[in-house]
Amino acid sequence: MGMRIQVESLIKMKQLKLPIVVMTCYDCPTAKLQDAAGIDVVFVGDSVGQNVLGYVGPQQVTMSDMLHHTRAVNRGVQDALLMVDLPYGSYQTPEMAVENGLLLVDAGAEVVKLEGGREVRDQVIALVGAGIGVVGHIGYTPQTRIGERPLYGDRADEAVLVLEDALALETAGALGVVLECIPERVAEVVTTHLSIPTIGIGAGRVCDGQVLVVNDLLGFYEAPFRFVRQYANIRDIMKGAFVAYAADVRSGQFPAEEHRFLMKNKELRAFREQIESLAQGSND
Ligand code: KIV
Repeated sequence: MGMRIQVESLIKMKQLKLPIVVMTCYDCPTAKLQDAAGIDVVFVGDSVGQNVLGYVGPQQVTMSDMLHHTRAVNRGVQDALLMVDLPYGSYQTPEMAVENGLLLVDAGAEVVKLEGGREVRDQVIALVGAGIGVVGHIGYTPQTRIGERPLYGDRADEAVLVLEDALALETAGALGVVLECIPERVAEVVTTHLSIPTIGIGAGRVCDGQVLVVNDLLGFYEAPFRFVRQYANIRDIMKGAFVAYAADVRSGQFPAEEHRFLMKNKELRAFREQIESLAQGSND
């Protein structure tokens, strides 16, 4: 077991220039593997909707979905920091943010993430006031921009808004900010202007940390986003295993001898005798 990552560790890691490694996670066995692999922040993203639940977008994800998956992931995490998304519609007011943030904390979240910049300033202040660590998320924000072109901040006026939003989140007390799909040069300016860490996804090489969606990096999908590196081809591995299993069952190759349970001859003889006497009794 390594050292438990604390909420304060994120800012320390930025100061020490230690890259922060974040990965989405939706279930307990994957959480155990991520934890053992030394992932710093295991993150129950609302991308659980598309990646696990078969939803078309993050707007369908409910608090009950997030609580269910947070509890599962929490059972698998020992050392990593557990960050959880507040889903769409769960933080429209500061009161709602705190009420739902506390439910996520109760399920195991150590930090909650929410989307938006200046418009969620009051929610961040309220969450921090309630003792809940908060990470912001700006740039491309899937909960409200789904269907729009993913790149954001490549126009000067948008880039200024990204910086202003990041600074507003920091001032409100956020302890980090996710930057999604913005030009590397904008991410660089934001990263140098903030004392809290930036976590990039499609934001280039300069952020204080990186986050990837576990399904993307494992290669579940044939056409990954431009900003994804696939570290495995789980799609082919899983499909190959399913095809082989079906073929073995159909051809009688599975189960094989070594998969059987045996019984002592004495017990087998007694079993047969009892069956015979039962059969005789019912014939009498
Ligand atoms: O839910 C999610 O997967 C996210 C990432 C895009 C950072 O918020």
